[in-house]
Amino acid sequence: MPDNDSNVQGKNYGIGIPQKTEGYFLKGNAHIDWGMKDRLSRIFSPKSGHTVMLAFDHGYIMGPTSGLERIDLTITPLLEYADCIMCCRGILRSVIPPTYNKPISLRYSAGSTILTYLNDECLLDVEEAVRLNASLLACMVAVGDPKHEALTIRNLTKMVDLGTRYGIPSLGVTAVGKELVRDARYLSLASRVCAENGAHVVKTYYCEENFEQVTNSVPVPIVIAGGKKLPERDALEMAYRAIDQGAAGVDMGRNIFQSDAPIAMLKAVRAVVHEGFKPDQAFELYQTLKNQ
Ligand code: 5RP
Repeated sequence: MPDNDSNVQGKNYGIGIPQKTEGYFLKGNAHIDWGMKDRLSRIFSPKSGHTVMLAFDHGYIMGPTSGLERIDLTITPLLEYADCIMCCRGILRSVIPPTYNKPISLRYSAGSTILTYLNDECLLDVEEAVRLNASLLACMVAVGDPKHEALTIRNLTKMVDLGTRYGIPSLGVTAVGKELVRDARYLSLASRVCAENGAHVVKTYYCEENFEQVTNSVPVPIVIAGGKKLPERDALEMAYRAIDQGAAGVDMGRNIFQSDAPIAMLKAVRAVVHEGFKPDQAFELYQTLKNQ
C-alpha cells in the first residue's frame, strides 16, 4: 500500500511552460488513435518517415511462387533487414519464427486464385489478427473490376471498422488483374477510393508517367509494390523515383526474393528508401554486397 505519510508533495509543475503536443509524422494520420500511431511508427521509421516492407504473401493466390517454395530457406534470412513483413497467417504460423519481433502486415482478405477470378474475397476474423499481433491489416480492393469492385470495397470498409475497434490500422491494396491498367489516372482513382474509405496506408504500383499525381491525390502514405522481377538496377531506379515522387516506402517482394543476392538487394533498397541513395550508388552498393 502507498504510505500516505511519506508522500512528498509534488512541486515541479512547469508553470508557464506549455505542455508539449507533438505532431505526427505520417501524412493524413494525425487524428487517429494512440495504438494505431504506435503500430504505424513500428512500420514507418519516425526518423526517415519511410518503410521497407518485405512482401511474401503471393502464395495465397499464386501457390509456390518462384523464390517462395521454401520460405524457411529463402525468406527467414531476410527478416532481420525488413522494417515490416507482409504475409498470410498460414505461413506466419507454420514457418516464420516469432522471435524476430517484426511488425506484421497481415494479408487479411482471401478467396480466389489465379486459376479462376481474382479478387472474389472475404475477410479473416479480427480476433485472429489480434492473436497474431498484426500491426496492419491488408485487403485487396479491385476498383474497376465489374464483378468484384463492390465486394472488395465493402471488404475494405469492414476491415477498417474491425481494425479501428482494436487499434489496428488498415492497408488498402489496389488489386492486380489482367484487365486493370496501371496508369496514373487509374492508380490515383483506385488509391483515392481506398483512402476515402478509411485506409490508413495505400499500396499501389509505380507508373512511369505522372506518379506524382497518385501520391498528391491520396491523403495518406503510399507504398509501392515491386511487381514482376526487373534487373536489379531498374528495380532500384523504380524505388528511387517512387520515393522521390512522394511515396513513403516500398512493399516489395519478387524484386527482392527473386534477386541473385536477396540480402544485398534488400540492403540496397533500404539505402534508397531511408538514406536517399541515388540509383547508381545503390546499385554499386548492391554489387559490392553481392560479391562479398
Ligand atoms: C499482391 C501483393 C503482393 O504482396 C505485392 O504484389 C508485392 O509483391 P511484388 O513486389 O512481388 O509485386 O500485394 O497483391
